Amino acid sequence: MKNYLYLLSIFLWMPIIALSQQLKVIDNDKLMEIGTYYYPEQWPENEWERDIKKIKDLGLEFTHYGEFAWSTMEPEEGRYNFDWLDKAIELAAKHNLKVILCTPTPTPPAWLTNKHPDVLIKNSEGRIIQHGGRQQASWNSLVYRNYVEKIVTMMAKRYANNKTVWGWQIDNEPSHYSSFDYSDNAQKAFRQWLEKKYTTINNLNTAWGTAFWSQTYNNFEQIIIPNGKETLQKPNPHAMLDFKRFTGDAVSDFVLWQQDLLKKHIPAHQWVTTNLMADHSIVDPLRFKKLDFVTYTKYLVAGFDMGHGEQGFRMGSSNAIGFANDWFRNITGTTGVMELQPGQVNWGWYNPQTMKGTVRMWIYHVMAGGNKFVCNYRFRQPLTGLEQYHYGIMQTDGTSVSTSGEEYTQVAKELRLLRKEYNPEATAPKSYSDRKTAILYSTDSRWDMEHQPQTFQWDYVKHINKYYKILQSFVAPVDVIDETHDFSQYPVLIVPACQLLDKKLVARWKEYADNGGHLVITCRTGQKNRQAHLWNEKLSAPIYDLIGAEELFFDMLPEERTAHIKMDGNNFKWNNWADVVKPSKNTEIWASYSDQFYEGKAAVTRTKSGKGSVTFIGVDSDDAKTETVVLKKVYDRANIGTENLPEGVVMQWKHGFWFAMNYSSVVQTINIPANSKIIIGQKDLKPAEVVIWK
Ligand code: GAL
Repeated sequence: MKNYLYLLSIFLWMPIIALSQQLKVIDNDKLMEIGTYYYPEQWPENEWERDIKKIKDLGLEFTHYGEFAWSTMEPEEGRYNFDWLDKAIELAAKHNLKVILCTPTPTPPAWLTNKHPDVLIKNSEGRIIQHGGRQQASWNSLVYRNYVEKIVTMMAKRYANNKTVWGWQIDNEPSHYSSFDYSDNAQKAFRQWLEKKYTTINNLNTAWGTAFWSQTYNNFEQIIIPNGKETLQKPNPHAMLDFKRFTGDAVSDFVLWQQDLLKKHIPAHQWVTTNLMADHSIVDPLRFKKLDFVTYTKYLVAGFDMGHGEQGFRMGSSNAIGFANDWFRNITGTTGVMELQPGQVNWGWYNPQTMKGTVRMWIYHVMAGGNKFVCNYRFRQPLTGLEQYHYGIMQTDGTSVSTSGEEYTQVAKELRLLRKEYNPEATAPKSYSDRKTAILYSTDSRWDMEHQPQTFQWDYVKHINKYYKILQSFVAPVDVIDETHDFSQYPVLIVPACQLLDKKLVARWKEYADNGGHLVITCRTGQKNRQAHLWNEKLSAPIYDLIGAEELFFDMLPEERTAHIKMDGNNFKWNNWADVVKPSKNTEIWASYSDQFYEGKAAVTRTKSGKGSVTFIGVDSDDAKTETVVLKKVYDRANIGTENLPEGVVMQWKHGFWFAMNYSSVVQTINIPANSKIIIGQKDLKPAEVVIWK
């Protein structure tokens, strides 16, 4: 009897134990899982099993279906067909693959937009974006949402209890290809958004400063979306900022609303995410925090990114994956890479081959960033459609493995080795964690500066990446964070060009420094309040106490011109931006301008603040030399040791492993301590090679 009660009590507890295990969004014990996209609807049914079996045979662990298959799921309004998807999922199950299912909402079928052309978006030129591509439907259309609700609910109900379904992706890279929506649906939703935010039109007039150029509105109905194609000058910057915020909200709302639809039916262990392009300005990944987690997509070699050295264009920049890892991981604490470039693509400026080994190096870079999975885009090279020349794991014949397929296969094999050595609980070496640095990302500042850059040479993303790259050479672990994070866990906090702020944020920075943190603030910070108004005080006045300034102004140069500063007896150049500082009495001057009419004025300052320090870097330069020596000095003064990796080399610690990757165009020798165990690779790395040790 006693035994029986004991068993019963275990039995009663089981669901709770199971649930708490399920709530861990993704298994931690696998190190990282690898999968690939497959489109059953794009291939003859008699090839599905061959292909799906091959995915498994190559060592991959999951596949991904559905995001562009609406017209196959619902060929005519109300006539649903999921038999094909059932079968594809069964085949995945048979071959022991998990499935990520995706809602098909980036591709409304022709019948839908034909019947309801009002769901289509309108671009800034006033053109309606038609069927024939993708992402043509407005996130703000209630009619569209109605159809979305039906298809998403059908999918959720049908696959909620399917054990093969691992998790869900919503939509695909929701972004409208960085085009804003000016449709009637967007106009209407924008007005409602404004009315909710401002309640009265007078509040809006004040916030937008509409007395300037007689832009005053009498009611919300008069407001039209600010559109530079319809005005002779750039539109009102405050209206523009609100429009970007509105658009950011519209896209995240569309995705989160779909998550709610799914979660009405799916069990807790099926997670929900979406995949964002980390670099696109229209979406703000921080607005997706209510998802289980956010994933990113990454394509590095497409003729835009020259990387490092002569062959860099075949590997991409060393900070592209790193920055995305360190940003997306910090949004909800977990991330994965939903799409990784498989090799040569078709849509680039030009489309070079990737250097042998590059895809494998990228996969390891993703792993070194703590991602839970990486999904290759895509298994088979398509024979039709706009991405005909886009590599897959398989070549056009469907049976021969491509060069990048070979790299995936190699990683799949190596992963078995790594899993044996993997310790999710391992703690980072102290010298490494002592260098832990946060970079504060400010979406509003980026958006506002993109509208009013002041100089064509200003680029927020480049500016922030410059600091990231320097930290990479220091071998510092980086978290890219937003204001909601606790700053106190970071010995160093870098605040790049945080133009929009309030005094509370400045007070938090002050407290951080007073408590021993080392704060680095860069140019353009603090010029405006949250509404993007200049302060009714001197320029950037709210940060004067913090940085030890009495006042400042800024300067910029014509293209191809450089000016100079002097620091510790050495000369440095700047070219993009200069905040020229009049320091207060006790401020240390680390660098001064050595030419121009303000020669002798401060360019870099440093003040003590309680137990910590505040360093202000007024210049932005293309060669990043000033920025590098200043940061080095900050870490030296704080007694934080740093490394000095050559450009293009990345070294990171994660899960008990050290990873080093060579994105440079020459052989690099990695300094691996003698008592280490090398698990993969060797210390001399040719371009695109990797070494992993512990
Ligand atoms: C991604 C997109 C995929 C596919 C891929 C091609 O941006 O999400 O659907 O088009 O590019 O490289």
